[in-house]
Amino acid sequence: MAGVSFEAAPEIPAGVEILGVPVFSDLSVPPGAGADVDPVLLRRFGFEGKPGQAQLIPSATPSVEGTSVVALGMGEAAEVDRDVFRKAGAALARAVGHAAVIATTLPSAAKAAHGSSGLAQAAVEGIGLASYRFAGNRKKSREVHLETVTVVGADPDEVRAGQVAVDATTSARDWVNEPPRSLTPTRLGELATDLAEAHGLSVEVWDPERIVAERLGGLAGVASGSEEQARLIRVAYDPPGAGDEMAKIALVGKGITFDSGGLSLKTTSGMMTMKDDMGGAAAVLSTVAGAAVLGLGVRVVGWVAATENMPSGSAIHPGDVLVARNGTTIEVLNTDAEGRLVLADALSLAAEEKPAAIIDVATLTGAQITALGDRVAAVFSNDDTLAEKVIAAGARAGEPFWRLPLVASYRPKIDSEVADLKNVASGGGAGSIIAALFLQEFVDGTLWAHLDIAGPAWSDGDDSWLVKGGTGWGTRTLLQFLSSWA
Ligand code: BES
Ligand code: MN
Ligand code: ZN
Repeated sequence: MAGVSFEAAPEIPAGVEILGVPVFSDLSVPPGAGADVDPVLLRRFGFEGKPGQAQLIPSATPSVEGTSVVALGMGEAAEVDRDVFRKAGAALARAVGHAAVIATTLPSAAKAAHGSSGLAQAAVEGIGLASYRFAGNRKKSREVHLETVTVVGADPDEVRAGQVAVDATTSARDWVNEPPRSLTPTRLGELATDLAEAHGLSVEVWDPERIVAERLGGLAGVASGSEEQARLIRVAYDPPGAGDEMAKIALVGKGITFDSGGLSLKTTSGMMTMKDDMGGAAAVLSTVAGAAVLGLGVRVVGWVAATENMPSGSAIHPGDVLVARNGTTIEVLNTDAEGRLVLADALSLAAEEKPAAIIDVATLTGAQITALGDRVAAVFSNDDTLAEKVIAAGARAGEPFWRLPLVASYRPKIDSEVADLKNVASGGGAGSIIAALFLQEFVDGTLWAHLDIAGPAWSDGDDSWLVKGGTGWGTRTLLQFLSSWA
């Protein structure tokens, strides 16, 4: 997908087909909006200036000849924030019809938000993310006509950061939306290699032989039921001239390219969206690339454990015991709890390099959806400051995270009679916490945060900047987290 390209400019350029103008709930426009709007006309259309509202006004008088104006609701002037800007951007993208060249004076509304930064970036994200369409395999593809957007009065660095966030999220969404028959672990390894080449990253892709030689028993175990080969992917971004003393952040992604449940088979409806079970891997890979494009001053390593989870005569059985990379033995009682098995190995590998912190991203548990739904992700951490940083980054990126506890007294529920651990708990409840406690066994005391994005990785419909299908959730949070760290 070519995607929309953004630029910052001090003035409205000539020849734009549509101008998106911020309008507050009192139907006033801020100075520098570039067009007057008639409140009587807007009221007639039912436009109340609410965030997310957009109204085309063919007869408005913009300062640029031949341009149509789209009024964008901003709510109360005193309450504008990044979420309002992101919604307004998304509403603009959904209102431009077949226009290819547009501009917006959304940044003129920023004055009201006393010095709050990142507003123009949020507007860019809203426009770019709502314009996303998966090219897909349809004879009649749903085309996007939008090509260029000038963001009038914006800080060029913010527009650039927004562009990188949009592009990274777009590739993550594309990989999730790609059918599992084509987006295999092998293909994911190739995409990582292409990405590394394009962005000057170092990359390693391990095949099944190497995976066994490296004692990745969790990954090899889950892969054993599949005709498709597994891959372990490591990509790394080292800033030019970075030495060993520069902080290194490890990102770990769950890369199950299709989760049937294995012999503990899912139901028909339970596996309908299970091509999204590599959403964590997609976020990790696109974040490492985005960090390189931004030239961030922090070293980033991305680890992805990629395999299908399939039932077959060679699949692992409930009752089997696997030996993970760090030597921990795991009794597999439910083959559908496969994410923690492959993450066990990837987390161990990440921890061996002694990074400043590890953040893993995974569509890990249905229980996350029960607890928080599909618009709020869960974060677990062994460190309060790290948890706060992730939550702050997510808030800034428009991806809400809510912290859940690593309840130490639940840990004995995953003690096994025959191995060090079992992969599901005795007794029900707290499924997301149990999974997080399991993962904690593999980080070797490293500062660590675990993001369970099971619900938010997928959107059931179009909603503001979300588009039905893969959402790319986590990508912008991680980019924001790394930008703040650097
Ligand atoms: N990939 C699923 C989690 C999931 C479920 C993601 C629904 C998105 C939507 C994961 O591998 C899984 O199957 N988890 C099981 C664990 C259980 C067997 C302990 C679950 O949550 O049901
Ligand atoms: Mn599963
Ligand atoms: Zn899964």
